[in-house]
Amino acid sequence: MLTGKNITIGVTGGIAVYKAAQLVSNLAVSGAAVRVMMTESAREFVTPLTFQTLSGRQVYTDLFARPAGGAVQHIDLAASSDLVLLAPATANIIGKIACGIADDLISTVVMATSCPIIICPAMNVNMYNNRVVQRNLASLRGLGYHFVEPGVGRLACGAEGRGRLADLELIMDKINFILANEKDLQGLSVMVTAGPTVEPVDPVRYLTNRSSGKMGYAVADAAARRGARVVLISGPVELKPPAGVEVIPVQTAAEMHAAVLERFSSVDVVVMSAAVADYRPKTAATQKIKKHGETLTIELEKNPDILAELGRIKKHQLLVGFAAETEDLVKNAQKKVSAKNLELLVANDVTLPGAGFGTDTNIAKLVFPDGRLISLPKMDKLALAHTILNEVPVLRRGGKVNHIVPLS
Ligand code: C5P
Repeated sequence: MLTGKNITIGVTGGIAVYKAAQLVSNLAVSGAAVRVMMTESAREFVTPLTFQTLSGRQVYTDLFARPAGGAVQHIDLAASSDLVLLAPATANIIGKIACGIADDLISTVVMATSCPIIICPAMNVNMYNNRVVQRNLASLRGLGYHFVEPGVGRLACGAEGRGRLADLELIMDKINFILANEKDLQGLSVMVTAGPTVEPVDPVRYLTNRSSGKMGYAVADAAARRGARVVLISGPVELKPPAGVEVIPVQTAAEMHAAVLERFSSVDVVVMSAAVADYRPKTAATQKIKKHGETLTIELEKNPDILAELGRIKKHQLLVGFAAETEDLVKNAQKKVSAKNLELLVANDVTLPGAGFGTDTNIAKLVFPDGRLISLPKMDKLALAHTILNEVPVLRRGGKVNHIVPLS
């Protein structure tokens, strides 16, 4: 996805400059044309030669340098970039951008460009928590700047806390996401299910699960951005509906079943990321169940397996399922992908930190019916949504997949 993209990286002066060198190397390997700009303080940590060697291009340091041919360098860099990335971004550069100051090459390129800008802050935890820095971050967020938040851990100064440059794979995910706005799903109709279902026990109680709906909403959002017509059948969640998506709210598995079947014949792709309750109370009491006795038994009956049913009746539709597992992930996923007659199953071990319900990230394996398996690194859910959707055009062609190499 990065082949032919012009990515301009602004490296500012923090110890995480050494990690930016690896990032430049990863980007160059993934086919991007990478140009590096360095502040004077960044050059105290690492010399331009490192970045020049890794990017294969000259490094830009001087606002007033006049390139051969007479171009105005900062305007040229700003206009020819598909993406500007600031990594590491110090409190200083963040403050300058937030205040509209352009007094060196990086801040001037940021001021002059109209391309997306990703800021990856890295600094001491107290600096990061400083209210002025937080105010600047909030104001830049509000202006549409993209961020990859710093991680938590031991900082170079010896302190513990938030401030480490984000994992490079999260930065790569963000870059891929921002640059992957092709309309490759134009003309397709995609149905996504999301969130939990709730199964009433009596008028005040219900059975449900921990699904937040974030994964399904990310898939719906990503599919709509890529040009698909999207209908999102959603259990009760606390999320804003993605722009341009038709949302059909449901409560129970039976309602989700009915809503999905009603639209199934008119869609091309179904991504079933809802955590559908497997069982529901056999009867929902019409009055609140009174407290008596030491134990209470509620008899459950099976809900329909919506996805398995779609697998039996599908014609042209492409089916993508999700499987949250706590053991034998791959074995169970391989069984499920064929038992439910799916084109793709996204399996994740919900016991891993950074995976599963409620988190903003996920660690998934893509399991195909022909036995292929792709282990993806930890990704934010929107990046995973795009990675899943990357498979759709390929699977529809029935062809082999040109796989995303997991980012190292
Ligand atoms: O068999 P398991 O519940 O692990 O399968 C998970 C997949 O099946 C998910 O894609 C989920 O949305 C779907 N499912 C369903 N109906 C159910 C239970 C799960 O469609 N009753």
